[in-house]
Amino acid sequence: MVRRFNRGSKRFYDGGVFTGGVRKQSAHYSAKIFFNGGLTVRMGINYAASRAEYPLFLCEKHAGQAGKILKEDFMLTKKDLLGLHNTSAEEIIEILDRAEEMKALLRKNRKAEKILSGTALITLFYENSTRTRTSFELAGKYLGASEVNISASSSSVQKGETLIDTGRTLDAMKIDFIAIRHPLAGAPKLLSENVNASVVNAGDGMNEHPTQALLDMFSMREKFGGIAGLKVAILGDIKHSRVAKSNLFGLKKLGAEVYMYAPQTLMPMEIEKLGAHVCSSMEEAIEGAHCVMGLRIQLERQKGGLFPSLSEYSRFYGVKDSMLSLADKDAIIMHPGPVNRGIELTPSLIDGSSSVICEQVTNGLSVRMAILTLLKEYREKNL
Ligand code: CP
Repeated sequence: MVRRFNRGSKRFYDGGVFTGGVRKQSAHYSAKIFFNGGLTVRMGINYAASRAEYPLFLCEKHAGQAGKILKEDFMLTKKDLLGLHNTSAEEIIEILDRAEEMKALLRKNRKAEKILSGTALITLFYENSTRTRTSFELAGKYLGASEVNISASSSSVQKGETLIDTGRTLDAMKIDFIAIRHPLAGAPKLLSENVNASVVNAGDGMNEHPTQALLDMFSMREKFGGIAGLKVAILGDIKHSRVAKSNLFGLKKLGAEVYMYAPQTLMPMEIEKLGAHVCSSMEEAIEGAHCVMGLRIQLERQKGGLFPSLSEYSRFYGVKDSMLSLADKDAIIMHPGPVNRGIELTPSLIDGSSSVICEQVTNGLSVRMAILTLLKEYREKNL
């Protein structure tokens, strides 16, 4: 039976048998450690940066021996999760690892682990959502938080209340977490600076959507055993996509290479400076890719004129079935949703055996459970 416990700032996994090995991936190393108790712990050591700086996990015993794994306890370092540009590789790995534990809990149908009992979560959505809002709500409910949804259309925002005043009003009710979606970039940051609650960015304008990128990375890691060394092709409306930006920040930090392709009018200027490879054809982007991610055409953020018509967009920039043959043989098809069927991806790619679009949604629940749990731990220790 594997036991997990904290001592000081260290976390221990005790009582298992280490049977895994270290698998080299690109400039990074990753490994799985299997315990006979059934728990899987992933190791990620970023040797590329500095061995001393990133000792994420230490394995105290060798293969086949009764094992004790010593893991540095990397808690989140901020009260809020606003984006992946300011989230470290260690924090991202911590979230992904915790999400794995949450997924195992859900698999055992142990929704009754009331880790968030006594806390309150508000989902504050100024834009429409199906996946993000529902999974935040379920994450809170499954873990025992009191959960309330506020949408802009039914709140005092309609009477002219500012975002800061709305936040202060919620704070006065001793809220612990606010998951906010807003059409304006920077709204979650502004809110976070004016409330005691932990603010999670559930998508702000064209800026970031960190929880989506985290669930995307979780899904990639689940399929390929690690992120380092993966080639990820992101295709479509990159200019308006907060998902693309958060993925770029997160994936680069974990050692993946990100290739982007879009009509010139939908490619943000100077995205190369953030580490993206900008491709001149879809074939170049997809060639050898492990992950092929389509993006939704965001008609609501366009004033028109960025491409001639949806049918022409689909013809020249939609991903076709035949293109999958260029990708890695185990390549997966991803999309953050909602999908414009037949525009960004063909229906047969959306529903085909390589598609993990539904698994992405499933994983979103575990990832959001992990984020709320880690933020609660941060709050207990620091606030
Ligand atoms: N991917 C995503 O953010 O979907 P929703 O708009 O349904 O939340």
